[in-house]
Amino acid sequence: MEINKVAVLGAGTMGMGIAWTFAGAGKKVVLYDIKKEFADKAIERIGKGLAKAEEKGQVPAGAKDFVVANIIATGTLEDIVDVDYVVESVFENMDVKKDLYAKLDALLPAATIIATNTSSLSITEIAAITKRPDKVVGMHFFNPANVMALIEVIPAIQTSEETVDITLELSKAIGKKPIKVKEGPGFVVNRILIPGMNEAAFILYEGLATVEDIDKAMKLGAGWPMGPFTLCDLVGVDIALEVCNTLYNESGDSKYRPAPILKQMVRAGYLGRKTGRGFYDYS
Ligand code: CAA
Repeated sequence: MEINKVAVLGAGTMGMGIAWTFAGAGKKVVLYDIKKEFADKAIERIGKGLAKAEEKGQVPAGAKDFVVANIIATGTLEDIVDVDYVVESVFENMDVKKDLYAKLDALLPAATIIATNTSSLSITEIAAITKRPDKVVGMHFFNPANVMALIEVIPAIQTSEETVDITLELSKAIGKKPIKVKEGPGFVVNRILIPGMNEAAFILYEGLATVEDIDKAMKLGAGWPMGPFTLCDLVGVDIALEVCNTLYNESGDSKYRPAPILKQMVRAGYLGRKTGRGFYDYS
């Protein structure tokens, strides 16, 4: 199956990186958000990121123009009707997804696959919203999505083998290394990584060491590319808390209970890089 044109729904941090990835691999991308200006902003950020990466020699000269030319911004869902594949990366809320998937189901040809980048909601429940549950699948990217090589491909219980195979092939075609994972809270990476960030927040809460020293400890003592708080700020403190709550609620295991400090930070709006303040100040 030839996939040349994809829609990416949601132009937040992940949607932006996912659109960047597809466009970088030469796919035509329609980047949708509820307001076109959100998608325009994301394309602007991709352009800036690539200009910087070109300067540093991380990408070849001309990459910025190539990638940006492959992405069209829209605030109109009808503009995605002719795409070959859809990746949804909107707000992690089941009511928001229910509304969107009902619209998508009515709009898209019956054969179009819809992949969700959700990290905390049930893919089986999302698939059940549609009349094409066999064509709904998890396609989980990692932040920054344009850099991180892994994609977790997660079938819902309704997903067909064909949908999984197409998604694995597509992941390879855009230069990623996919793994297939059965549906379970946190899949593989977040099941290991998020409790690590949560434990760091408990260590901080208990006053054992500073944010900077805990980060230093994990970078220099465990070889992490960035410390747990730097990573938490990159991923989003709200996302880390959401995944932690999912692990806790779905398993019922108290080892996943979120650290109080994570809840406080989210209540204060200290969500990390995206709000200019998290465990570190970015203003
Ligand atoms: N093209 C474009 N930009 C690039 C690039 C490339 N090939 N390579 C790096 N960059 C960008 C980085 O995004 C970063 O951008 P900013 O300056 O805007 O911050 C900048 O260039 C820094 O690059 P460096 O040369 O300093 O790269 P680095 O060696 O520090 O690596 C990193 C950066 C790849 C992010 C590395 O620190 C890393 O691997 N960190 C861990 C990330 C991680 O664990 N992600 C998973 C999070 S969990 C998740 O996402 C799932 C979920 O559901 C919550």
